[in-house]
Amino acid sequence: MGGKLSLIASELSPRMGSDVKISKADLVGGAHAKEIRALLDQRGVLLFRGIAPEDRELRAIARTLGDLRIGGVKRGADGKVLNEGEEGVLKVSLDEKVNPDYARFLIGNHLWHMDGTYEEIPPLATLFTPFKLSKTGGDTMFANTYAAFEDLPGEEKAAFEKLNVVHMMQAGLFPAKRNCTVEEFAVWASYPPRSYPLVWHHRSGRKSLVLSTSAAYVEDMHPAESHDLLQRLIAHATQDKYVYRHKWQMGDLVMWDNTGAMHRVLPFDRESGREFHRCTLNGEEPITAAA
Ligand code: SIN
Repeated sequence: MGGKLSLIASELSPRMGSDVKISKADLVGGAHAKEIRALLDQRGVLLFRGIAPEDRELRAIARTLGDLRIGGVKRGADGKVLNEGEEGVLKVSLDEKVNPDYARFLIGNHLWHMDGTYEEIPPLATLFTPFKLSKTGGDTMFANTYAAFEDLPGEEKAAFEKLNVVHMMQAGLFPAKRNCTVEEFAVWASYPPRSYPLVWHHRSGRKSLVLSTSAAYVEDMHPAESHDLLQRLIAHATQDKYVYRHKWQMGDLVMWDNTGAMHRVLPFDRESGREFHRCTLNGEEPITAAA
């Protein structure tokens, strides 16, 4: 990353996350949009305290940073396009009354994942702000998959760069809801699997591990070896040294880079009405391996 950053930012953890001081007006007006994009790429997670954006402000901030996702992109076997929310703002809640289309899929958020591993080009980033918090639990954790790749021994890096991994929605959701109905499982299974390289060569020249609980198996590898490798890599990438755990306050705005990080929510009281508002930025580059 070239250029000197003029934003005031301090580290949230050594390898993940920065706390950024900026006014709401500057955020909404895009005064530092270029620097914010660069910092998001470097630090994976950005926290802006005391912003408390209304939905229209959240959309406006998102639009200063990228291509705000509007409408749905998911299609199951029934061909239904799920509504991602009103004009780009998705209500993240486990309550089906709050979010009739999505609530049943959000149970998977409890496990380490990347968003959109059923899409050709996964989302670039998420903007997330609390509407209602649970009194207990509900912290969100982020793991830096650039750093996790960088720290691997050289021979493993070279070997992993040759591997492709198949991602499936049922692999991501079943472990989070083992008591699912047969119908639910069938809906998850109706999303087409997607194969990605295990190591993403970003246009920036950086490399990250493409990991998520949706990672079902490594292609052309014995299932036992594939299972063990994926488990080992998720454990490696989610060690404390790569992780930032965010304890939410009302007013927070957090952005995360979906292309170089995994995230998960810690358990919370289902009756609490925990609700967040989220804007998603569409992805800008497909996951590609070394040329
Ligand atoms: C998510 O996994 O997208 C949301 C995480 C959270 O609810 O904290």
